[in-house]
Amino acid sequence: MTLHLLLGDCLQVLPTLPAGSHDLVVTSPPYNLGIAYRTYDDRSSRAEFLDWCQQWAAEVKRVLTPDGSFFLNVGAAPSNPLFPHQVLLALTDELFVLQNTFHWIKSITVQTRSGESISAGHFKPINSKRYVNDCHEYVFHLTKTGDVPLDRRGAGVPYQDKSNIARWGHTGGQDLRCRGNTWFIPYETINSRDKERPHPATFPVALVEQCVRLHGKGEETRLLDPFLGIGSSAVAAKRMGLAHFTGIELDDHYLAVAKERLETLL
Ligand SMILES: C[S@@+](CC[C@H](N)C(=O)[O-])C[C@H]1O[C@@H](n2cnc3c(N)ncnc32)[C@H](O)[C@@H]1O
Repeated sequence: MTLHLLLGDCLQVLPTLPAGSHDLVVTSPPYNLGIAYRTYDDRSSRAEFLDWCQQWAAEVKRVLTPDGSFFLNVGAAPSNPLFPHQVLLALTDELFVLQNTFHWIKSITVQTRSGESISAGHFKPINSKRYVNDCHEYVFHLTKTGDVPLDRRGAGVPYQDKSNIARWGHTGGQDLRCRGNTWFIPYETINSRDKERPHPATFPVALVEQCVRLHGKGEETRLLDPFLGIGSSAVAAKRMGLAHFTGIELDDHYLAVAKERLETLL
């Protein structure tokens, strides 16, 4: 894998990358919700923030191939529920088309057929009379045209009822169906936050892997993450044996952690 891990402000670094040099972007920018990053100040006016998002997204568009996919992860705070939608409106005004909306479910409770309740995943409980615990974030799938083909079954799940495989012609006899737009992806359980996740806002490696599978270009994929953090997307790229990965991060310590994570990967 060609690997470029670049220290700097993505607004300055992205213009140095060739146009059309990446076919997949998976990223999670700061959310302007006052998160305590080491270097980046996560508080600005909403208008300034949205303007900044449009600037880096225009560069993402330039760097992306015509049939490329841009998976943008954004969450909200209970007191700031419109935030993801405001970012989405800013990015779809002139730059991108919203092709799919995914819900990254971090925690869920389901009732089994026998009536048992099972809870899975993790969430940060909030103490509030008016807001419920926030157990999901968005992953907006943005493209240049709105009609980029995806490998739905590459990211699919087995049929619950196997008789559907023979019943429906479109299965082609395969025990795989499209997973849909709800992705239950829990954070990995950790014992020490400082040692194992020394960053206030990461996404799971499995979230990126899911985007790569859906993108459907396999090992040929050239993946970019302009807000690398501690390198979860780079870990996904290495684990999946992708051809090329570029990551950009403002903070030298987070970038160093990303490099360490990659070195310790078998
Ligand atoms: C939400 S976090 C991304 C975390 C990452 N997905 C992970 O799993 O580790 C956003 C990251 O963007 C970085 N950042 C903020 N402004 C930046 C900029 N202008 N250029 C590059 N990175 C920036 C922050 O330091 C932070 O690590």
